[in-house]
Amino acid sequence: MIANVALLPGDGIGPEVCDGALQTLQAVAARFSHEFRVQTHLIGGAAIDAVGEPLPAATVEACRGADAVFLGAVGGPRWDSLPPARRPEKGLLALRRALGVFCNLRPARAWPACLRASPLRPEVVAGADVMIVRELTGGAYFGEPRGRDSAQGRRRAFETGSYDEHEIARVARLAFGIARHRRRKVCSVDKANVLETSRLWREVVCEVARDFPDVQLEHQLVDSAAMRLCFAPASFDVLLTENLFGDILSDQAACLPGTVGLLPSASVGAGGPGLFEPVHGSAPDIAGRDMANPAGAILSAAMMLRHGLGLEQEARCMEAAVEAVLAGGVHTADLRPAKAAGTREFAAAVVREIAG
Ligand code: NAD
Ligand code: IPM
Ligand code: MN
Repeated sequence: MIANVALLPGDGIGPEVCDGALQTLQAVAARFSHEFRVQTHLIGGAAIDAVGEPLPAATVEACRGADAVFLGAVGGPRWDSLPPARRPEKGLLALRRALGVFCNLRPARAWPACLRASPLRPEVVAGADVMIVRELTGGAYFGEPRGRDSAQGRRRAFETGSYDEHEIARVARLAFGIARHRRRKVCSVDKANVLETSRLWREVVCEVARDFPDVQLEHQLVDSAAMRLCFAPASFDVLLTENLFGDILSDQAACLPGTVGLLPSASVGAGGPGLFEPVHGSAPDIAGRDMANPAGAILSAAMMLRHGLGLEQEARCMEAAVEAVLAGGVHTADLRPAKAAGTREFAAAVVREIAG
C-alpha cells in the first residue's frame, strides 16, 4: 500500500512524540512492504508564530487531500493570552470540524506490565479495558451563540450547549457497532437529571439501541460515572458520551494505565481522512527534554493503521511491540521515575521490536 499521511507536529512535546510515532510507522512500512509518504504541515502555536493563524488554509487543504492525518499536540503558555479565535486550541477544534470527524475513540486499559504505575490498587484496576466514544464536533465546544458581553455593568461569558438528534444518533450508532466487536455493553453517560441536551441524548440513544438488541445498554449520570471509573473501571466496556464529558473522562481514564502518556485516540466518522492524535496535550513542563512518553502517539499511529488505512495486522504488530517493550521493563519517567528511558530510547526500543 502507498498512503499519504499529513503530519501536524504542533507544539510542546508534539514534535517529540511525533518523531517516535513516525519511526515506528516507518518500521511497520519496512516490515510489511508499505510506503507511507509523510508531509509535515503547520498547526497551533507553531502556525501562529509562522503565519499568524492557528489553522492555515494550506493545512486544511493538505489534510483533506491526505489518506490520514496525524497530530502531536497544540497549545502552551506562550499563546494563552491570545483572543479565542487565534488560540492554538482553536486550530485543532476547527480541524476536527473541517474533517467532520464526529466520533472520537479513546481506548484506555490497565496494561499488565504497568499495574504498579496505576494510582488504583492492582485488584481494582486489573482487567480494566474501556473504549470511550466521545462525540467530537458538537455540544458546548461549538454551539452558538457564545462569547462575552456585559450585563448590569458586570462582565458575562456564555456558550451554548446544543445537540440535534442527528448528531447524537450517528455517534451512538458507531458506539453500538464497536460494542459488537467487544463485550457488547454500552454505558451512555449524560446529565439527564439537569441538562436538556442530555435528556435528548438519552432519548435518541434509546432509539438507536433498538437496532442493536444484542448489545446491552445502560445509562449513567456523569458524576457517578466518574466515580465508577475509579472504583470499578473493569465494569465498563464501551462508554459513550458527549464532547465535554468525554474530554474530562478520557483524561481521568489515565488512571487505568497509570499515565496519560499511554492513551491514544482516533477521530473518524465522516468517510474522509481520519485524525489520529494522543489524548495528552503539549506538556509544556517537560517539552524539549526528551522525557515525554511517545507510547500514546505510537498507539495512535496503530489506530491510524487500523481505522484510517484498514491495516489491522500492522496495527496489532505495533501494539504488540509497545506491550513487549513495556513488559521488558523499558519505560519513560511518567510511568516510573527510576531507571527511566528517554523519549528517543523508548521509541527506538519499539522500532527494534517491530523489526523483529
Ligand atoms: P497535558 O496533557 O499537556 O499535561 C498534563 C500532565 O501530564 C503534565 O504534567 C505533563 O507533563 C504530563 N504529560 C502529558 N503528556 C505526557 C507524555 N506524553 N509523557 C509524559 N508526561 C506527559 O495537559 P495540560 O498541562 O493541561 O495542557 C497543556 C497544553 O496542552 C494546554 O495548552 C492545552 O490546551 C493543550 N492541550 C492540547 C491537547 C491536544 O493538542 N490534543 C490536549 C490537551 C491539552
Ligand atoms: C483533547 C484536548 C482538546 C479538547 C483541546 C486542546 C481543544 O483537551 O483533545 O482532549 O478539549 O478536545
Ligand atoms: Mn482533553
